Amino acid sequence: MKVLIVFGTRPEAIKMAPIVRELKSREEVETVVMTTGQHRQMLDQVLEIFSIKPDYDLNIFKPGQSLTDILVRSMEGLDKYMEEIHPDLLLVQGDTSTVFAAGLSAFYHGVEIGHVEAGLRSHNLYSPYPEEANRKLTGVLTNYHFAPTEANRDNLLKEGYDPDTIFVTGNTVIDALAYATREDHIFEEDLLNQLDYDHKKIILLTCHRRENLGKPMENIFKAVKDVVLENPDVEVVFPVHLNPTVREISQSVFKDMDRVHRIEPLDYLPFSHLMRQCHLVVTDSGGIQEEAPYFGKPVLVAREETERWEGVEAGTAKLVGTHYQEVKKNLDLLLKDPAAYKEMAQAINPYGDGQAAKRIADIIIRSMNSDRGPSYEK
Ligand code: UD1
Ligand code: UDP
Repeated sequence: MKVLIVFGTRPEAIKMAPIVRELKSREEVETVVMTTGQHRQMLDQVLEIFSIKPDYDLNIFKPGQSLTDILVRSMEGLDKYMEEIHPDLLLVQGDTSTVFAAGLSAFYHGVEIGHVEAGLRSHNLYSPYPEEANRKLTGVLTNYHFAPTEANRDNLLKEGYDPDTIFVTGNTVIDALAYATREDHIFEEDLLNQLDYDHKKIILLTCHRRENLGKPMENIFKAVKDVVLENPDVEVVFPVHLNPTVREISQSVFKDMDRVHRIEPLDYLPFSHLMRQCHLVVTDSGGIQEEAPYFGKPVLVAREETERWEGVEAGTAKLVGTHYQEVKKNLDLLLKDPAAYKEMAQAINPYGDGQAAKRIADIIIRSMNSDRGPSYEK
């Protein structure tokens, strides 16, 4: 049995890494790894950390790439290799343009598809954009839906998918953290070693979503800036995404702010260690919403919509939107009200138990060895 795993961006690589490692340890499976290279620097650091050497690298990245660039360049590259590799199954993870391109290519080549992190829905096609659409479009092409939670499974059932094709596995994001993080990590950056995590309140900030580019991102940054100006014990660490527009907005709002430390994107190990050390997280990231609660850190989700309601319902995360007042008000509350902080910090992480990759590998091997796999009826 040959399984082709395709990913292209930082978060896909992080969440797919435990599956690559698990499948490579199984004798029954030949595992072929391909990256589209949708991300370059941000992807390569992850490959190094998890010791993954892709068998194929389509190397499609170009600065300022459009959504069409990513889709067309990925599909052209995939088309070239799909016949040569001739896999029994394609595995993709999440909701990026790489995921949809690989899914569509596999579909055109008659290859079955397993979708990891299936069934997340914001129910707004424009937020997250274009990820909500990518995830739904990939779902349509999928034979095996690996849903992280029961709520994700319910979303798929409501859309009419066959229950026999949906498997609740937990999210591999927790497997990756459990594998990679170390309590005694020492940062390479002096600044991060020197911050006074015990006596200062360190806010970890990330922001990159396409639908937040422009005014929403400016609002979020201004709220963070004013909180810093009003609270001498607050400092911010902001690993800035490589998207030039994010860099421009962050420069325009945070220039002259010496307690807002804008740094390059961190490698996954230091980044996860920073989540462990910080006081709280402000982010529009999908993955970070799932990771920070693992370290007991409250997350303010600076987005209008989320497809990750489990964290909000468990109390680990709060959806605060992208308007200045709401972001500021919620930051003030967490910084000044110890009870509100404690309630979020002590909530239970709902995203998994670190065994998702093992479950997914078991299901793949079992289903594909059986005549009655999910595609049996077709
Ligand atoms: C992509 C995904 C998004 C995911 C995010 C994770 C799509 C449409 N979007 O968004 O779902 O949340 O990755 O970070 O698939 N850049 C670099 N080097 C890199 C990576 C990015 O310079 O290694 C810069 C480039 O200028 C690039 C820009 O960032 O044009 C945006 O990258 P892109 O992959 O198009 O979108 P992301 O915003 O990263
Ligand atoms: N991450 C990282 N370095 C950083 C910021 C984030 O390694 O400087 C990791 C983070 O731990 C998480 C993933 O990247 O696993 C999230 O990626 P991102 O926020 O870019 O994408 P999303 O999850 O929103 O798709």
